[in-house]
Amino acid sequence: MEGLIPVMEPDRQYYFMNKCKELILDIKSDDKPLTYSVVTFGCQMNAHDSDKLKGILETIGYEEVEGEDADFVIFNTCTVRENANKKLYGHLGHLKSLKKKRPNMLIALCGCMMQEPHVVETIKTKYRMVDIVFGTHNIYKLAELIYNRLFQGERIIEVLDKSYITVEKLPQKRKYSFKSGVNIMYGCNNFCSYCIVPYVRGREKSRPAEDILAEIKDIASKGVKEVMLLGQNVNSYGQIYDYQDGKIVRVPEEEKVTFPELLTMVCQIEGIERVRFMTSHPKDLSDELIAVMAREPKICNHIHLPVQSGSTDILSKMNRRYTKEQYLSLVERIRAALPDVSITTDIIVGFPGETEEDFLETMDVVRKVGYDQAYTFIYSKRTGTPAASMDNQIPEDVIKDRFNRLLREVNDISYKRVGRYEGVTKDVLVEEINHQDKDLVTGRTEENITVHFKGGEELIGEIVPVKLISCKGFYYLGEREN
Ligand code: SAH
Ligand code: SF4
Ligand code: F3S
Repeated sequence: MEGLIPVMEPDRQYYFMNKCKELILDIKSDDKPLTYSVVTFGCQMNAHDSDKLKGILETIGYEEVEGEDADFVIFNTCTVRENANKKLYGHLGHLKSLKKKRPNMLIALCGCMMQEPHVVETIKTKYRMVDIVFGTHNIYKLAELIYNRLFQGERIIEVLDKSYITVEKLPQKRKYSFKSGVNIMYGCNNFCSYCIVPYVRGREKSRPAEDILAEIKDIASKGVKEVMLLGQNVNSYGQIYDYQDGKIVRVPEEEKVTFPELLTMVCQIEGIERVRFMTSHPKDLSDELIAVMAREPKICNHIHLPVQSGSTDILSKMNRRYTKEQYLSLVERIRAALPDVSITTDIIVGFPGETEEDFLETMDVVRKVGYDQAYTFIYSKRTGTPAASMDNQIPEDVIKDRFNRLLREVNDISYKRVGRYEGVTKDVLVEEINHQDKDLVTGRTEENITVHFKGGEELIGEIVPVKLISCKGFYYLGEREN
């Protein structure tokens, strides 16, 4: 039998998906299909990984259900902040009792938290009901891991220290048929001193442009209109291709495709009407990118540009590699070329050593830039990062006070910024029927502003002009124009 198992991917995984299809018949107690639930804790990349896991599970024959009462539950974890981490243990407690009632239930844990050895140790000793543990580098292998678990009857723990291969052409389930995330690169090499992502996601590696374009052409032919290109630092796309013996293998000069070039090619794909990307690291954002954004109407009028702090001193301790002035002048250049662009950001409050003056510099940047939206975070100490062992960790009450002041400021500014569209007609990509009022539909403008307006199911997936009537903070009530 062994000899028949394909060695090459993705054939090997399709082989295991078929095998699992047979094996799960033994778990079934009636004619109904087995159910699954993939619970996502993390960022857009994490959510996109979940879509791949769902694709594999549906090929095996599982059917998705809401909630955690399912035959197969996967938690796709995040560890960027301590509270993301704590959340998992709460859910696991709940699952322990569920599994008592459903002895055949399978529980799998994957994602960023599983790349931390102390977490896996805790799972091994304290959560024995967990059946499968895997990390960020082998999600493509889900079918093989399920097969091993069912066949061997023992729990399977497989966490790799890095990505050995990238597997293309595996199934994927999209929440929406008309929009999708697409990975353009994996990992991160920036090592911002507070951040755990480079440790749990591994080294930066770009996906070949031809693979990205082939995937987008394929999903466009299936009805996808909006793509979100995903990477921790999309502006450095196309530099690093691979690693050999620990050394960087750069993309050969003649094959190099920069991020602005990639965007231009994506915009040429028939059927694609909107292109988004995240995240842009300010240190690598080129004038060429700004020019492409100004030139290509399909690129959404929005840029997420995390500042993290407004103090040059703190930025240097964070290893962000730009100053307050450089960031502000970048924003000026962007606004000169794209006057109405929506700029959003991430801000961390309470980084070690942050003084009141440093914090006021952050407030100053917030006022000067005028963000459409800012995601604010309280600094969270991540074991293993350089910032965790820095002196002058800030007391909780000081952080809370600063956080509240910042939040008030960003909310006030964002309310005014988003309000500038009152009375304006914008194209809205309709996503779903409104959850509260069935006579309304909900969609987004290219600035990523949510709009609710009167309409029915037939509009889902369509881009329609909507007059933005009243601004309610982060969303609008609108009326469809003809
Ligand atoms: N690659 C992206 C960010 C990914 S993490 C970038 O560089 O912009 C998303 C956000 O989480 C970060 O922008 C940062 O604001 C926040 N974050 C990361 N580590 C954190 C920590 N230790 N404490 C608090 N917030 C953190
Ligand atoms: Fe983390 Fe910095 Fe990489 Fe973003 S760029 S993932 S903040 S290390
Ligand atoms: Fe994303 Fe959290 Fe991992 S933010 S990359 S899921 S640590």
